[in-house]
Amino acid sequence: MHARSYNFGAGPAALPGPVLDRIAEDLAGARDDGPSMLEASHRSDAFGAVAERAEAGLRDVMGIPDHYRVLFLQGGATLQFSAVPLNLTSEGSIVDHVVTGVWSRRAADEAARFCRVNIAADGSAGGYAAIPDPDSWALTPDAAYVAYTPNETINGVEFSFIPDTGLVPLVADMSSSVLSRPIDVSRFGLIYAGAQKNLGIAGLTIVIVRDDLIGSPRPGTPTILDYGSMAAAGSMLNTPPTFAWYVAALVIDWVRAEGGVAAMAERNEAQKDRLYTAIDASEMYENRVDPSCRSWMNVPFQVAGEAAEAFLDEATGAGLLGLRGHRSLGGMRASLYNAMPDEGVDALVDFMAGFEQRRRAGAGEAAAR
Ligand SMILES: Cc1ncc(COP(=O)(O)O)c(C=O)c1O
Repeated sequence: MHARSYNFGAGPAALPGPVLDRIAEDLAGARDDGPSMLEASHRSDAFGAVAERAEAGLRDVMGIPDHYRVLFLQGGATLQFSAVPLNLTSEGSIVDHVVTGVWSRRAADEAARFCRVNIAADGSAGGYAAIPDPDSWALTPDAAYVAYTPNETINGVEFSFIPDTGLVPLVADMSSSVLSRPIDVSRFGLIYAGAQKNLGIAGLTIVIVRDDLIGSPRPGTPTILDYGSMAAAGSMLNTPPTFAWYVAALVIDWVRAEGGVAAMAERNEAQKDRLYTAIDASEMYENRVDPSCRSWMNVPFQVAGEAAEAFLDEATGAGLLGLRGHRSLGGMRASLYNAMPDEGVDALVDFMAGFEQRRRAGAGEAAAR
């Protein structure tokens, strides 16, 4: 029996222990104190306070300037692939997309339904193992925006810099990197992120958008996809995902209590260093991403010698869960979101070393027979 389990899943993903405890306490206490957050009306004072706390907390922890709106929406990051062009383009607009992996590719494909898309750079020829040099990007001077994905959750490729797009608004899908390290929000026109990795649970999508970019959606844009209408209604034009919003408020409180995004970054950097160092030092595991752009949050790796299924079986037995790589890539993927404790990474690294040793010993015995 293992002492406890660790969830390395890419999303939905691990929640911080204190957040889970708090949810359990709140639910248990609710019968006496009024409706729980699973039941409360989004128009109630209790939920209103939660919603306000979530926004104020996020503004504080990310340093979001006053001239940005923060929206709490539904539909996942995937719906933003459409909502962004519907809100930020007009007839005949061209938009630039930097393609560095599966998610930025999908965003570009979806945008092409609404406007002309210029693929300014494409890392697919190199198997998405590196970020094309910004000097080689074919940017359009009068593009409506430049879109990119700072962290590619599937390919494990992450930008260590914010691209300079001059006056052209920069749009970032931060689904798997939001709150993982400090960023200068004022460099972006729009940031969106599904909540189910670093912000809580599935069902909620955060959009942070500069004021001047909202208010002129494409004709025919559904009202709930119009950022201006949603901002005017406090993200409550219709029934919002109340429970996911409440969990996000708790996660944001937790990040602040832990020392904010800078403290998250320090822990995340140390954790990913520990795992990549172990992978690089071994003969059994391999991460194929260029070291200059290896993800802090999602670490894909291959296991040599057709040992992947045995690795997964034994890891699961050891309480190391959610390590199966994305179906499009195979292999393994360890996601090290903010909620991953250091002990989880220690347990994974120890397990990997032990597994390699056992396989080697087994191969040695077979050769001697
Ligand atoms: C970077 C990125 N973008 C978009 C998505 C799609 O998000 P959703 O499932 O919330 O639509 C994901 C999901 O993992 C992701 O990692």
